[in-house]
Amino acid sequence: MPANGLALGPKLRYLTQRARRIDVGAVIERAKEVHEEHGKPVPAVVVDMLWQAARRDVAFQDYVDYDFAILNADERATFMTHPVSAQLAQRFSQPEGRKIFEDKIAFNRRFSEFLGREWLVVTESNADEVRSFVEAQGTVIAKIPVSHMGLGVRRYQAADVADWAAFHRDLLSKGEILLEEVITQHPDLSAVCPGTVNTTRITAFFDGSDVHTLAVAQKFGRGEVSDQMSYGGFYTMLDPDSGHAMSAGYDSHAHVHETHPDSGFRIADFQLPLFDDAIALIDRAARVVPEVQYAGWDVVVTEKGPVLVEGNWGAGVYENKPSVSGIRTGHKPRYRAAIGF
Ligand SMILES: Nc1ncnc2c1ncn2[C@@H]1O[C@H](COP(=O)(O)OP(=O)(O)O)[C@@H](O)[C@H]1O
Ligand SMILES: [Mg+2]
Repeated sequence: MPANGLALGPKLRYLTQRARRIDVGAVIERAKEVHEEHGKPVPAVVVDMLWQAARRDVAFQDYVDYDFAILNADERATFMTHPVSAQLAQRFSQPEGRKIFEDKIAFNRRFSEFLGREWLVVTESNADEVRSFVEAQGTVIAKIPVSHMGLGVRRYQAADVADWAAFHRDLLSKGEILLEEVITQHPDLSAVCPGTVNTTRITAFFDGSDVHTLAVAQKFGRGEVSDQMSYGGFYTMLDPDSGHAMSAGYDSHAHVHETHPDSGFRIADFQLPLFDDAIALIDRAARVVPEVQYAGWDVVVTEKGPVLVEGNWGAGVYENKPSVSGIRTGHKPRYRAAIGF
């Protein structure tokens, strides 16, 4: 029986792909980070990382991020990891459904009732419409509909545009063809970081009759257009039953934030407003495309209620960081109970 009770076929494919990609330099770099943080000798960490990767589906970055160096075997077994999430995503989604999630325009069409904002697709022939949309909004978010690495989001202001024909042409040539109204987040979210719309990542599983909340993370930006780590963002886990922060914030680049660096807000004190409404929104949204049963949903809580930003079928993992939270248990038991793997 495979370590995580998942089907052997996808698992073997995944392992073969991963073995081909093993980058020895990267393992040593990560082992050095672990050494600096926890004082463990580099060679011992390298061996442990490789062993965990081969036998326990723990990616090197998971090992670093979730402080595996200071956890015992039983504690480690409670943590979700990226390889396990990737296997769940493969098993619990069908190509037809994934297409909708991979294309932000297709997603907006299908999930329009949950968006709570205006949006427009840029085409060859709608320069005038683009101009009136941007002028009416003042500021817009422009997105590359199919993008990877979380870098396909830009912010434009009507006041900065001198030549509207050129603006329209540039959007097309850069592939930034989805324009969106800027979401107005709830004041409790602006209190932490007003310059970025701070999303809540709700990872959920639809079993055909019920929707289960698996994990909830709150991301915070640094004033940039996006709250993603690639734009300097960080996160904390929220209690999946109450929406209260479980610890200070952190990212995958060894930064820890007791307080938000720009506003001074104490991250561990954060309570997501309208938490029950956010869970109820996902309970509805997760049923819309039943071909995707396992997904990570980006939600923004506004004063009028929560709205959807997007859904990710290849959901990443957000977990506790034991050295920051003091909590040595991850979310995997919750995933196992809901999904049954
Ligand atoms: N309409 C919007 N209004 C304000 N901020 C937005 C909007 N859409 C996205 N963002 C910000 O950009 C981030 C990334 O957007 P998203 O659509 O989730 O793309 P990806 O995660 O693929 O980069 C969000 O988490 C949020 O911080
Ligand atoms: Mg996103």
